[in-house]
Amino acid sequence: MGYAEVYQGWKADPEGFWMQAAKAIDWVRPPSRALWAERAPIYEWFRDAEVNTCWNALDRHVAGGRADQVAIIHDSPITGKVAKITYAELLARVARLAGALAARGVVSGDRVIIYMPMVPEALVAMLACARIGAIHSVVFGGFAAPELAVRIDDATPKAIIAASCGLEPGRVVRYKPLLDAAIGLATHKPEFCVILQRPEETADLAAGRDHEWEAFQQGAAPAPCVPVAGDHPAYILYTSGTTGQPKGVVRPTAGHLVALQWSMESIYGVKPGEVFWAASDVGWVVGHSYIVYAPLLHGCTTVLFEGKPVGTPDAGTFWRVIAEHKVASFFTAPTAFRAIKREDPEGLLLGRHDIGSLRALYLAGERADPDTVQWAERHLNVPVIDHWWQTETGWPIAANPLGIEALPIKLGSPSVALPGYDVQVLDEGGHPLPPGTLGAVAIRLPLPPGTLPTLWQAEARFRKAYLEHFPGYYETGDAGYLDADGYLYIMARTDDVINVAGHRLSTGAMEEVLAGHPDVAECAVIGIADALKGQVPVGFLCLNKGCNRPHAEIVAESVARVRDQIGPVAAFRQALVVDRLPKTRSGKILRATMVRIADGEEVKVPATIDDPAILDEIRAALVAAGVGAIGGAKG
Ligand code: COA
Ligand code: AMP
Repeated sequence: MGYAEVYQGWKADPEGFWMQAAKAIDWVRPPSRALWAERAPIYEWFRDAEVNTCWNALDRHVAGGRADQVAIIHDSPITGKVAKITYAELLARVARLAGALAARGVVSGDRVIIYMPMVPEALVAMLACARIGAIHSVVFGGFAAPELAVRIDDATPKAIIAASCGLEPGRVVRYKPLLDAAIGLATHKPEFCVILQRPEETADLAAGRDHEWEAFQQGAAPAPCVPVAGDHPAYILYTSGTTGQPKGVVRPTAGHLVALQWSMESIYGVKPGEVFWAASDVGWVVGHSYIVYAPLLHGCTTVLFEGKPVGTPDAGTFWRVIAEHKVASFFTAPTAFRAIKREDPEGLLLGRHDIGSLRALYLAGERADPDTVQWAERHLNVPVIDHWWQTETGWPIAANPLGIEALPIKLGSPSVALPGYDVQVLDEGGHPLPPGTLGAVAIRLPLPPGTLPTLWQAEARFRKAYLEHFPGYYETGDAGYLDADGYLYIMARTDDVINVAGHRLSTGAMEEVLAGHPDVAECAVIGIADALKGQVPVGFLCLNKGCNRPHAEIVAESVARVRDQIGPVAAFRQALVVDRLPKTRSGKILRATMVRIADGEEVKVPATIDDPAILDEIRAALVAAGVGAIGGAKG
């Protein structure tokens, strides 16, 4: 069956489609039906099923003949080590940690925060939670203590599992002081912490609260799998919204299993036993879905890579990993390829490695610019598949579904909507727009299995953020258009979210931090185009009347504030002091207009602007500071 037939088959009978896909999962109690629409527009899938994620990821494979197959390859060019863990070993480690957590009173439904770098123990911790029905919330290591504190207060975890440090090129990131500071800042306190001491850094442990990883598990009896209901949250993953308060995306257990398992063969075209590599981080959704859960559910070997595309040690590191571990399918962010292309434009380092095992490259996380896609196609000689999705959906919305049918590739498009998703482009009034017309990209409800049913303890916010603007649809927050062949083009965000090196960040959150500077009266943060990272943030600061401190000092303090309060991952390095910000007559800051100015694009003066002269002031400030395309910056 080709794509069109499969998609039409889903459309004709969505429930039948997903009940069929559900057969690939081992159920404790199979679902009696697929969709639960009683609370529409809040939908749930497979609610009356009983199932365990860890069983499906590990136990059934060990029982089914994969005990000695490698489950995880940990490849760390930063430490120079490669370690392999079989399915049987991984199961033993997971069951033991799960047993130790259970012995300390962690039960189904309890939250556990995981703050760990790219080490196998992060996966062990996630799967151990899944084994006993605990809801994990993994926090990316590049976030600072206040961001971790916000997540602690929102998720109210019984326990936190962390490592002593993460390793960035040339820098040991000491996690434990960040964790201690976050617990200090948070109102909620975890009952206990489990700390993995890495050889590169030994953290101080707080007596009575902190336990060393090995000691914690000493003598623990392996825990069995605890069945949970189909709608039980498998995890909470926080993502950036328009304010400083991140959104706690809830992932429902059964839908997660069904959708991810289906995606491995249908979208990625991989078979059990093959090696799958997603070069992302376990702290992001790509890491959750395609480093941890999907490859393991499918009986693949997953590569856990602790390194960067360049500098660890060079721009050939990806090719080395593909060749050494015989990777069949590779997934990363376009920014990684831009970094490689910049260092090795002719792809000379590829000559040193045999990447013949590779069948396809998948890109997501940000718009894949045609130059980068073509460069990758030329040098890797495999299909380069741009695909589009979000933390909220947990798996791709649009892709070229190689496992079903290799459709023609159109540069700049993540191809077509996948079964489960009825993607529409809407005008402001919620009416579908004709092909070729830019509008808000929305998905007709219900969303498919595995996507978010709500936000953690914030259903009103969920409705407001995603369901209210276009009744009957889920609002993606992206703008784009469909062409006459149904290919989708994702062009920009419609909100204040920006995408920096494949990392989703909130300019609103940065503004909240800058506004806290005692000399800043008002501010705006925008994302401007950057040749490497896609976008980078730039701050505009209006100072309090009478403030005559040197601007450079205030800018440096502002940069430090964002780094300390949000984290290095924000990559906030540029701020300009200006007299005024351009606003509408009703006082709304014209951020999109500022972005166009900075990017050197044609600017239509908005009809609602209060004082058009301010646009010239912004232009002059950018030129004087050499910021943005207009300032002559390379970005
Ligand atoms: N823990 C602590 N700090 C981290 C971190 C982590 N897990 N990840 C990144 N950081 C820090 C970096 O060390 C850097 O700090 P610095 O300001 O002291 O240099 C800062 O955050 C910005 O990091 P990054 O955005 O990664 O920029 P970079 O210049 O170090 O590297 C790329 C640029 C393009 C090579 C890199 O961003 C990359 O590999 N991107 C791929 C992104 C990706 O896989 N995204 C997942 C979506 S699929
Ligand atoms: P995240 O939730 O971090 O995965 O970020 C999701 C957002 O990243 C989307 O809403 C888009 O704005 C952007 N994005 C992800 N994949 C793509 C893609 N293939 N093309 C364009 N934008 C993308």
